[in-house]
Amino acid sequence: MAQQEDVFKKIVSHCKEYGFVFPSSDIYDGLGAVYDYGQNGVELKNNIKQYWWQSMVLLHENIVGIDAAIFMHPTTWKASGHVDAFNDPLIDNRDSKKRYRADVLIEDQLAKYDDKIQKEIDKAAKRFGDAFDEAQFRATNARVQEYQQKRDALHERFSKALNANDLEELRQIILDEEIVCPISGTRNWTEVRQFNLMFKTEVGSTADGASTIYLRPETAQGIFVNYLNVQKTGRMKLPFGIAQIGKAFRNEIVARQFIFRMREFEQMEMQFFVKPGTELEWFSKWKQTRMAWHQALGFGAENYRFHDHDKLAHYANAATDIEFHMPFGFKEVEGIHSRTNFDLSSHAKYSGKKIEYFDPETNESYTPFVIETSIGVDRMFLSVMCHSYCEEQLPNGETRVVLRLPAALAPVKLAVFPLTKKDGLPEKAQEIIKDLRFHFNCKYEEKDQIGKRYRRMDAIGCPYCVTVDLQTLEDNTVTLRDRDTMEQRRVNIADLRGIIEDQVSITSLLRKIDN
Ligand code: GAP
Repeated sequence: MAQQEDVFKKIVSHCKEYGFVFPSSDIYDGLGAVYDYGQNGVELKNNIKQYWWQSMVLLHENIVGIDAAIFMHPTTWKASGHVDAFNDPLIDNRDSKKRYRADVLIEDQLAKYDDKIQKEIDKAAKRFGDAFDEAQFRATNARVQEYQQKRDALHERFSKALNANDLEELRQIILDEEIVCPISGTRNWTEVRQFNLMFKTEVGSTADGASTIYLRPETAQGIFVNYLNVQKTGRMKLPFGIAQIGKAFRNEIVARQFIFRMREFEQMEMQFFVKPGTELEWFSKWKQTRMAWHQALGFGAENYRFHDHDKLAHYANAATDIEFHMPFGFKEVEGIHSRTNFDLSSHAKYSGKKIEYFDPETNESYTPFVIETSIGVDRMFLSVMCHSYCEEQLPNGETRVVLRLPAALAPVKLAVFPLTKKDGLPEKAQEIIKDLRFHFNCKYEEKDQIGKRYRRMDAIGCPYCVTVDLQTLEDNTVTLRDRDTMEQRRVNIADLRGIIEDQVSITSLLRKIDN
């Protein structure tokens, strides 16, 4: 565990050192849970967004995009339920004066039981070697059984308390489980209170009677309030989807784990409108489609899992998360929700507008049901970074840090180096870039020895490097070096585009998921 924490710390500092992610307003010592993306981060982030957008809007004839404003009519948030119910249960420790999410404290306690069970299993696996049967060990080992029973009982009690919104019971669980504050080490807890996560601001001058508006806590509502506009102007027939990428804001109290939980973040959401009664079938289809999107990146199927929700929102009839194996455990990256007709019906009620679909096949009007896929760009970014960061031992005893990014997501696709700064080599290298920069992101580097330049490119995940030398001037060939294998081969300049373009294009990823 400690080792994993070290790896995570290294990833965070790598992000800063190589221009991926900086603390916001860094010269003022940063702002809690807010981050800026640097010169390489923004490219990687844009590539993630492009991969998502194109998988939705290019590959599906019945999905279109929009870009709604961040500010929305304040009634939107009344109708969506956010004003009344977008709360976190908070608890304070009186000694450290630190504030925590009560549900997160309990989830951490559940994870502790899981860790204890895993430790017993790992120990036994080591002891018994090939003869070890995990299922049998789980079913028979007294200590594992005891931990499992405690975990299951806690889980059941926790789910019940959450579903009933029972704040007193949440506090009681924390006391009964003897959960201590990680800072003070004491159990001197306050009551649990609800805290609304929306940021408020005012529109108009106060003299005119300003009104309170909110920074949107999710992009989805911008889609719901535009359902009629898009359906009518696009003459869309059910089933159809509306996709959007944009900023969302939440006043997260417990901001942890770098860009995993931020106060300003970006979402990629798609609302898929379907005929009532078909929603669970579509829910299952979208689960598979979204998992395939993740797995096409090649990070290994074992690093993903579905986590079905214990607590369903009052309007949902199914919900699951896609979790990714981060250095701090399996964590939610994307949510897939069957939201029934709750949002559209509620907006119809609050706005007084009829929001329905006339079905030409059955000659009836109804409110469509909705399947939502909602993924955080920043969490996706973090999962890509965590999986790609690699410290590799080389045969000569050196260590190299390499970001094994999927080539299609890499910020820079090709680096071109002149071997030396003389004999016309820089000019030849620039000539190559001038031609290839129309097709993918290229970078010119002439400082330091070639070896150092390779290392710098490895550290930002650049899949290909080209070196121009004296032979290039004679026969128009260059050395092409592969990031992962470090193999070098001599190729014609005229062949570079053909060799690289297909490997680094978003299309190469899209082909894997198009069926
Ligand atoms: N419209 C549904 C919705 O917003 P959510 O589960 O609250 O659902 C969806 O959020 C996704 O947005 C999450 O799976 C996560 O990737 C991302 N997300 C949510 N809160 C976040 C935060 N504070 N910081 C970064 N990403 C966040």
